[in-house]
Amino acid sequence: MDSTLSDLVEQARVALAESGDATSLANAKARFLGRDGSLTARMKALGSLSGEQKAAAGRELNVAKQAIEALVSAREARIARAQLEARLAQESVDVTLPGRGMGAGGLHPITLTIARIEAIFHSIGFDVADGPEIEEDFYNFTALNTPENHPARSMHDTFYVEGGLLLRTHTSPVQVRYARMHPPPIRVIAPGKTYRVDSDATHSPMFHQFEGLWIDEDISFADLKSVYSDFLRRFFESDSLDVRFRPSYFPFTEPSAEIDIRFPDGPLAGRWLEVSGSGQVHPNVVRNFGLDPERWVGFAFGSGIERLAMLRYGIGDLRLFYDNDLRFLQQFNR
Ligand code: PHE
Repeated sequence: MDSTLSDLVEQARVALAESGDATSLANAKARFLGRDGSLTARMKALGSLSGEQKAAAGRELNVAKQAIEALVSAREARIARAQLEARLAQESVDVTLPGRGMGAGGLHPITLTIARIEAIFHSIGFDVADGPEIEEDFYNFTALNTPENHPARSMHDTFYVEGGLLLRTHTSPVQVRYARMHPPPIRVIAPGKTYRVDSDATHSPMFHQFEGLWIDEDISFADLKSVYSDFLRRFFESDSLDVRFRPSYFPFTEPSAEIDIRFPDGPLAGRWLEVSGSGQVHPNVVRNFGLDPERWVGFAFGSGIERLAMLRYGIGDLRLFYDNDLRFLQQFNR
């Protein structure tokens, strides 16, 4: 190879070795192989040579060109490898660091309370049922011995919806639906959402109740008292909880009683607190179940679930249940 040509290859080697990144490499490559590059200039000059000289010089130029191209791709590979290594070093993960820990989700305190109520009643042979939240007037009122214009309708501030339907104001309509579908004896509870036009620290337009219905041939108010008192003592984990049945009125029960509890100790000690309505199912309602009130005796109760949860957990404001503040919700695991 003529010495000017091997000098050129040597210059290319030095220039390429000095290019540390993709841009300087491209510049160096252009200096020799580009349109105005020094090797390209020599190629163009071939035209002025005669046949034999042209062939020999052409061969030499090709050898030089291939040498420079090999240098360029070696350099390219090296720069790419260096870039990859730099990136890996920067993005490296320390696999020996401890994990960040997974935040497990939890159940809402109302869901936990419903599960607790279901477990207690299930253990004494009660089924669990549910019914529609958008209800017919018939099931919510009329079948429960509360016909239109009955004064007791004003006990409930009702949300009415289209088509003569309403949002159920209590879980008692499930009594009627269930008793019409299942032959007695019946032992069932029905937890679920209920709605009334009411909103303050202790009332929410949507709240939860659970209904209980017990129908058999030979049961008395004493059975209701023992079952519900036992439920309360288990729910609050307190054998010394006081339970009182206070005479009251509901159109669908006769006699009727409000159920109150009193804690022996703690911040609420000594105060009677109302937790449930209850009573013997009115003969008219038993008839609406499709049963003979001379033969079948029914007992029913309807309790506020938020109320029970607030008392059990010591929560002062009902609205906390619906704010979905994680700092509140994360405190409940049982
Ligand atoms: N449904 C009544 C209420 O919501 C409670 C109740 C249920 C009372 C069953 C007696 C029997 O106030």
